[in-house]
Amino acid sequence: MKSVFHFTIRKTLLVLASSIALAGCAGTPPQATLYERLGGLPAITAVVDKTLDRTATDPRTRRSFEGIKLKPLKESIALHLCEVTGGPCKYEGATMAKAHQGLDITSAEFDAMVSQLSDTLDQFKVGAREKNELLQLLAPMKRDVVSK
Ligand code: HEM
Repeated sequence: MKSVFHFTIRKTLLVLASSIALAGCAGTPPQATLYERLGGLPAITAVVDKTLDRTATDPRTRRSFEGIKLKPLKESIALHLCEVTGGPCKYEGATMAKAHQGLDITSAEFDAMVSQLSDTLDQFKVGAREKNELLQLLAPMKRDVVSK
């Protein structure tokens, strides 16, 4: 009787131990946000700075930036990206539709800006996974940005 009891206890302990081990394997650490994987606000700020410098000077896209103060625009876009990538920022600017209303941005201008961003992400050696995630996050905004 005693040995059966011990056997049962040992078996229970074994099952418990292996469940804990399995849970340890299956329980992956909490997923780092895209914001964290990109390198946080300093990295996002650097990417936005470089991209906006390109967008505001490239003949394909510069037309919309005449008379626009780049410094506050860069800050606003960095906050927006920080928020949408899961960072701690609070973007308080206009919605994408409102911000681009009346600018008559075309599909070709939007695509050119995405390619300027893509070049910047390559320049900063952002990983393929993060790059794709960021571009996929921005793609659905096209319908709010483009109005022509
Ligand atoms: C997914 C793509 C885009 C995102 C996430 C984005 C984001 C933003 C944000 C956050 C603002 C600031 C709004 C505010 O502070 O209230 C803004 C303004 C602006 N964006 Fe975009 N933008 C995008 C595409 C474009 C494109 C393709 C162009 C032109 C080629 C453009 C031109 C501008 C201009 C000129 C402003 C300033 C408007 C003003 O101050 O009157 N944006 N954008």
